Amino acid sequence: MHVAVVGTGYVGLVSGACFSEFGHNVICVDKDEKKIAGLKQGEMPIYEPGLQRLVEGNAEAGRLSFTTDLAEAVKDADAVFIAVGTPSRRGDGHADLSYVYAAAEEIAQAITGYTVVVTKSTVPVGTGAEVEKIIRAARPDAKFDVVSNPEFLREGAAIEDFMRPDRVVIGTESEDAREVMRELYRPLYLIETPIVFTRRQTSELIKYAANTFLATKITFINEIADLCEILDADVQDVARGIGLDGRIGRKFLHAGPGYGGSCFPKDTLALVRTAQDAGSPLRIVETVVDINAKRKKAMAQKIIDACGGAVSGKTIAVLGLTFKPNTDDMRDSPSLDIVPALIAAGAKVRAYDPKGMDEAKHMLNGVDWCKSAYDTMGDADALAILTEWNEFRALDLDKVRGLMKAPVMIDLRNIYNPDDMAEAGFDYTCIGKSKVSAAN
Ligand code: UGA
Repeated sequence: MHVAVVGTGYVGLVSGACFSEFGHNVICVDKDEKKIAGLKQGEMPIYEPGLQRLVEGNAEAGRLSFTTDLAEAVKDADAVFIAVGTPSRRGDGHADLSYVYAAAEEIAQAITGYTVVVTKSTVPVGTGAEVEKIIRAARPDAKFDVVSNPEFLREGAAIEDFMRPDRVVIGTESEDAREVMRELYRPLYLIETPIVFTRRQTSELIKYAANTFLATKITFINEIADLCEILDADVQDVARGIGLDGRIGRKFLHAGPGYGGSCFPKDTLALVRTAQDAGSPLRIVETVVDINAKRKKAMAQKIIDACGGAVSGKTIAVLGLTFKPNTDDMRDSPSLDIVPALIAAGAKVRAYDPKGMDEAKHMLNGVDWCKSAYDTMGDADALAILTEWNEFRALDLDKVRGLMKAPVMIDLRNIYNPDDMAEAGFDYTCIGKSKVSAAN
């Protein structure tokens, strides 16, 4: 099959590369000439494990190419995926659909023969209908269907998530469009991936409901963590104890500094607005949004408290800045609340992140950027772990203590064991467990 993918962000680039790996002929389109020139040279605009190899292999095999010419990519395509950004609109939190609608206008002009236009970007309920209207108005003669096919991949595990998804959701009532979509996803049929066929608006809502539910699950365990700290209980044991109940499930019960990234913050807010506008408010989700925003801010105070209540003139070593490991994405990362608050409280911040520093440098001022984890620690009064990168999980604790002025660690991802840390001579604060002090 011939596939065009409009937009080479996370979703577009990974989907394009994976569809070409399935054996389809894929052309990825972006307006950003620099990005396309880079991709043609095998330079990835994002860091995602395995992506470079997948793109290069399929480009060499002649199944994957890149262009800025949308019309050229669309004219012979059986399916055109819209995978452009849908940022939060400034001011009201609604998803900004201007890029989606602009893509629809352009696609309309370029369609030849029967084409399935697929929205893969996360778009509010009703967007598919609007895209259909736009194309129909521009090209009353065109033969096409508009399908919703939301993407559930996670950054950092994007290729595995695309290739072995829990399910594929396809929203359309057109049998012709279903046939094209079945053909596109045939390799997943072979590994018995459940395919949910439904109406377009239901499919659009499924995507928001999934992300919102996961954000709620995280927020639930984060609140339980706060309670654990007061009651001297252990949140990791609570998560395991409830997660083993098959009705609850173990995933997304890791307490932390609050969810971030390009999806949960934006999508929870967008669904809150949609529901309010529909006169059917989602009060649980409204609360989740509020709790998470406050939590990110509260984390700076947690670090300050661990430093004895004040950080003025103190040096804080910060490990990890991205919203989660295995990505260079800094969008809505808790570090964007925590680091400025520490600096505002008078701390000197020395920070290191394995992949996120280029991005972070545009978003955080007044930070001393370091070359390695240990490089942050010289004469530090405290060490704060904000992201659970693997390389922070097995630090040489003797070396860490030797480098630091005071052995104070704040672990916002619970990657160390409190007893081990006390044994190693640290004052150790984590999430959802009592603070421990250095064993004598
Ligand atoms: C999320 C969803 O997991 C994907 O299914 C979805 O496709 C994607 O959004 C999207 O809409 O495009 P992603 O934002 O890449 O994926 O990252 P997650 O792994 O879900 O993590 C989101 C945030 O929640 C991170 O800040 C992470 O640290 C936090 N988190 C996650 C926790 O604090 N605890 C957990 O147990 C899990």
